[in-house]
Amino acid sequence: EGNDAYDISKLMKETGNVTLDSGFVNTASCRSAITYIDGDAGILRYRGYPIEQLAEKSTFVETSFLLIYGHLPSAAELEDFTSRIRRHTLLHEDLKRFFEGFPRDAHPMPVLSSAVSALSTFYQDSLNPFDPEQVEISTVRLLAKLPTIAAYAYKKSVGQPFLYPDNSLSLVENYLRMTFGFPAEPYDLDPVMVKALDQLLILHADHEQNCSTSTVRLVGSSHANLFASVSAGINALFGPLHGGANQAVLEMLEQIRDNGGNVDEFVRKVKNKEDGVKLMGFGHRVYKNYDPRAAIIKKTADEILEKLGKRDELLDIAMKLEQVALEDDYFVSRKLYPNVDFYTGLIYKAMGFPTRMFTVLFALGRLPGWIAQWREMIEDPETKIGRPRQLYIGETARDYVAMTQR
Ligand code: ACO
Repeated sequence: EGNDAYDISKLMKETGNVTLDSGFVNTASCRSAITYIDGDAGILRYRGYPIEQLAEKSTFVETSFLLIYGHLPSAAELEDFTSRIRRHTLLHEDLKRFFEGFPRDAHPMPVLSSAVSALSTFYQDSLNPFDPEQVEISTVRLLAKLPTIAAYAYKKSVGQPFLYPDNSLSLVENYLRMTFGFPAEPYDLDPVMVKALDQLLILHADHEQNCSTSTVRLVGSSHANLFASVSAGINALFGPLHGGANQAVLEMLEQIRDNGGNVDEFVRKVKNKEDGVKLMGFGHRVYKNYDPRAAIIKKTADEILEKLGKRDELLDIAMKLEQVALEDDYFVSRKLYPNVDFYTGLIYKAMGFPTRMFTVLFALGRLPGWIAQWREMIEDPETKIGRPRQLYIGETARDYVAMTQR
């Protein structure tokens, strides 16, 4: 009021018929046939298949195929896809040296995005996003190499030697061995851990136009290649309001434990919005009901922790926190429920991953979704370069003032 620049009808005249939708709460950016979410009913389906069935019956590699190619693979297709991924798990020796340049205490997420970005320098044929052969080989290279890169980011952070991939193993087995094994020493794979991690990766594999996926599409819409677009997506995932929430949840649970385990006191702080404290792992832009992924993870967390012999008092705090929140009007009226990140950290911790690796595990899971969405975007004749508009609210025209007169 009283300020010319904020006069809406004037703004409309100057900018045309532009919609202001901060955070894209109600604006679709594309048509997509990959993932269906009904946020009110708590439904998630990949290519029409319910997440509950895929989590129970599929594998991460098969689900990756489904997301990228649109159908469940035949036995021959799956065998071919799996062996193509196996052939590309090695990193170029020069790329391995890249890791030496980072400080030892570097967070593994920027290490991951930097190494993925660097793939464009090793595979320069990938730079043309309209060459289907190159898109295909880039797809396989990313799926094969991201677990190796992720394991090396971990090894770098703990100062241990890198292991070459062992291609007699499955993708998840190989990743676990490269992370927790030592060169020239046998590594005993725990089938409970392998199955649990595979299932967690399936649950993270796609989630339509979330922040990181929209980033992948936006960057790709300028015809940047797959590696550059996925690297940008990894950086978007790093933030604590998105994939970084799984790390933030565990830190929150530890903080509650260290303050005597007083859940009610913590919830009071959240409700009063003291120092901007949020209940991490709660709330979602689309789900206004229980996140179906969280429902699956909650059911398995208790069981897996038991099987791994890692009963954790933080799980009790998490369950109490959920119970208190779900009975409290603040959370009920805002439809805030646990999201995928609320229970995953406890499982990753039980598996032996340090907190800073949690978001890397999310990135490993989300990769096939990013690839599928990028490919759908690049093949869609409706795709235009992503270029949102704005409503300008700054100063109106004024004359330059000489330095001596300021
Ligand atoms: N704790 C406390 N209050 C919350 C929370 C929370 N976790 N989430 C939302 N609210 C409140 C907001 O303060 C707001 O209250 P108000 O109406 O009094 O202002 C109301 O609920 C609506 O929230 P918005 O911020 O408008 O919801 P939005 O859709 O923009 O944000 C988000 C969604 C970012 C996920 C949010 O719920 C949040 O910050 N959650 C915690 C972080 C988290 O778990 N992120 C992971 C999301 S899932 C994923 O990316 C994999």
